Amino acid sequence: MGENFTEAGVTAALAPRYVRFFEQVGSTNDVGLKWLAEGAPGGAVVVADEQTSGRGRLGRSWTAPAGTALTFSYLLRPEASALSRAAMLGGLAVSEALEQLGVAEVGIKWPNDVQIGRLKVCGVLPEASWDGGSLVGVVLGIGLNARVDFTGSPFADSATSLEDALGERVSRVDLLALLLKRLDYWAGDLNGAALFEAWRGRLNMLNLPVSVINAGSPVEGIAEGVDADGALLVRGNDGQVRRALAGDIALGNA
Ligand code: BTN
Repeated sequence: MGENFTEAGVTAALAPRYVRFFEQVGSTNDVGLKWLAEGAPGGAVVVADEQTSGRGRLGRSWTAPAGTALTFSYLLRPEASALSRAAMLGGLAVSEALEQLGVAEVGIKWPNDVQIGRLKVCGVLPEASWDGGSLVGVVLGIGLNARVDFTGSPFADSATSLEDALGERVSRVDLLALLLKRLDYWAGDLNGAALFEAWRGRLNMLNLPVSVINAGSPVEGIAEGVDADGALLVRGNDGQVRRALAGDIALGNA
C-alpha cells in the first residue's frame, strides 16, 4: 500500500494549509524559523521525508532513514505568556492522536517525549524565535517513529515505532492530518487551563523516583509534580523540593 507521502499527496491532504513538503531537507525546524521571520502564519507546516541535520533536545542530533518517520515542524504565534504551554502542546497532541488510533499505554515522559509503555515513539523540539524582547513565534518540531527499525541500534531498549504498537501499516499522510487536528485544537486554546491539565494528566512518571540528567546540576528524588511553567518538581532525600526546567529524566535514582 502506498501512503502517498509526497509533495502532491501531502499538500492535497492538508489544503488549504500553508505547507511545504521536502523529500530531503537539513532540518524542518530551520525552515520553520526562517518562515517565522518571513511572516508565515501560525498553523503553517514544514514536512520532510528525511532530514540531513535533524536535531533533538539538549544539543543532540535526531535522525531517521527516509521512509520511516513522520518529521515536521508546526508554527505557532503565541503570546509570550503562553510560551511554556506552547512547549506542552506537542507531546499532548501526539499522545491524543495515538490514543485515537487505539494505541495503549501512551504517556508523556517529562517534558515532552511521547512513550508507548516505557519506549519513546516521538520526540518534540520547541524552538522560540525572539526579536529583542518580543516573541516572534515558536517552531514545534515533531519526530515520530512510524516504522523505524531499532533492531541492533543503541536505542533498541528505549525506542519503538508506531507500527510495532499497532501491528499494522500506518499512512504518514493520514497520521499527519490527525496530528494537525489536535495541534490546531490546542493552539486555539493556548491560554486556557485545560491544556496544562491535559498535559499534566498524561505525564507518566509522577510520584516515582527519578534522576533529572543533563540539567545544570543533577536533581534526584521523587517527581512530585509540575508547575505552571512546565518545570518538574522533585523532592530530594533531604525533603527539599527542587525545580528542573530542562533536562531528561531517568526512572530511579542514579
Ligand atoms: C528529541 O526527542 O530530542 C526531539 C526530537 C525532535 C525531532 C524533530 S524532527 C522534525 C523537527 N526538525 C528537527 O530538526 N527536529 C525536530
